[in-house]
Amino acid sequence: MEVVIVPDAKAGGELIAAAIGRLLSHKPGALLGVATGSSPLPIYEALTAKVRAGEVDASRARICQLDEYVGLPAGHPESYRSVVLREVVEPLGLTEASFMGPDGSAEDIQAACEAYDRALGEAGGVDLQLLGIGTDGHIGFNEPCSSLASRTRIKTLTEQTRVDNARFFDNDIDQVPHHVITQGIGTILEARHLVLLATGEGKAEAVAQTVEGPVAALVPASALQLHPHATVVVDEAAASKLK
Ligand code: F6R
Repeated sequence: MEVVIVPDAKAGGELIAAAIGRLLSHKPGALLGVATGSSPLPIYEALTAKVRAGEVDASRARICQLDEYVGLPAGHPESYRSVVLREVVEPLGLTEASFMGPDGSAEDIQAACEAYDRALGEAGGVDLQLLGIGTDGHIGFNEPCSSLASRTRIKTLTEQTRVDNARFFDNDIDQVPHHVITQGIGTILEARHLVLLATGEGKAEAVAQTVEGPVAALVPASALQLHPHATVVVDEAAASKLK
């Protein structure tokens, strides 16, 4: 695992957007796995700027989701499908045809999870997977105690994650769904390159446990230690508890 400490979130976004640009220059149709939430926004902003400036050609890029809420009505502005379309697909000038994600409104959620794992494999696998980290060490929505070998499946969000995410739902925790579909940790580990961006003091403890603690299901992000090509980019605040 390589750990890169940057001065701030903007610098982290720039660094990772440049890495995505390099990937796209030698593999224009690369499959990029994207996370939602606040952490990756500087990456999407920097990448969009590079595309608009003609520095990066993302016209053949393919995008796939990491996770999705279960039970939000189709088109809900906070469904991760809507978020990724708004924050990544549209700004990069791509269309829905280049985008895939799990179906959080499927009648048979288990079948939808299996179908998504299959679809990722049939698409050739994820080339670069962007990750954020929860304050409890989750990646995707693999909450503490998730199996490190898990596949895409339905998970129940912890109270802490629902509190953390209430800011996207008018600060009303009652609107935050209880369940999500998430790529499993085993699924995530199949991506060729994992890139986690963590910023702010609130992530410092989770980052320290991820990077310097034992590999443990209690800290799902610690599974990155098992991956041959994992990059953790942290700002100084998120790095503050590293030894
Ligand atoms: C969302 C996701 C989550 C977030 C994590 C951190 O797709 O995968 O693991 O990355 O909850 O969220 P932020 O970045 O909002 O602190």
